[in-house]
Amino acid sequence: MTKIALFASGNGSNVQAMIDAIERNKLSATIELLVCDRPNAYVIERAKQAGIEVFVFQAKTFSSKEEYEKVILSKLQQKEIKWIVLAGYMRLIGRVLLTSYEKRIINIHPSLLPAFAGKDAVGQAIDYGVKVMGVTVHFVDEGMDTGPIISQCSFHVEDKMERSDIELKIHQIEHQLYPSTLQKLFNQNIQN
Ligand code: GRF
Repeated sequence: MTKIALFASGNGSNVQAMIDAIERNKLSATIELLVCDRPNAYVIERAKQAGIEVFVFQAKTFSSKEEYEKVILSKLQQKEIKWIVLAGYMRLIGRVLLTSYEKRIINIHPSLLPAFAGKDAVGQAIDYGVKVMGVTVHFVDEGMDTGPIISQCSFHVEDKMERSDIELKIHQIEHQLYPSTLQKLFNQNIQN
C-alpha cells in the first residue's frame, strides 16, 4: 500500500474525496498524515473523523520555511511517506521538501494550466471570459503551479453558469480526477 501525506489549508473537500476513494477501493493508498498550516481549517476535522494523524503548524512561529519544512520532513521520514499530495495547501513548497521528494509532490489546481496559475484561478478565468475551464493535476516544482502536467479535465462554460455553478463543477471534476490520477501514478511507480 502506498503511504501518502496530504497537505491542506482549508475546507478539505479534496482530502475527503481521497478518504472516500480509499474506502471504496478506488485508490490503493494509506493517508499516514495530514499536514495543515491553519489551526482553524475544517480539513482538520475531516482528518480526525477519519482517524488520520494531523500535524498542525503555524509558519509564523518558525524563523524560516526551511525550519518548518525540516520538522515536516522528519515526520514524513518517520512514517516512511512516499508521496506528498497537496490539496488546497496555500504555501509554496521549499527546497527542503523538494530535494527529498523530487518528482513525488503532486498538486491539483482549478484551471487549465499554464493559464491562470496562482490565487483565485476561477476568478481570473471568469474575468477573462474563457469559454472552456478545467482542472490540472501536476508535479510540484519551485514555482507557483508550474511543474509538469500529469492530467487535465475540461468543461464548456455555459452562458447561464454563475460563479457558484462553475465552482461546483470544478469541485466535482477534482474529486474524480485527483484520486484516479494518483492511482495511475502509483501503478506506474510500483517500487512504492
Ligand atoms: C481546490 O480547488 C484545489 O484545486 C485548489 O484548492 C482548492 C481546495 O479545495 N488547489 P478543498 O479545500 O479541497 O475543498
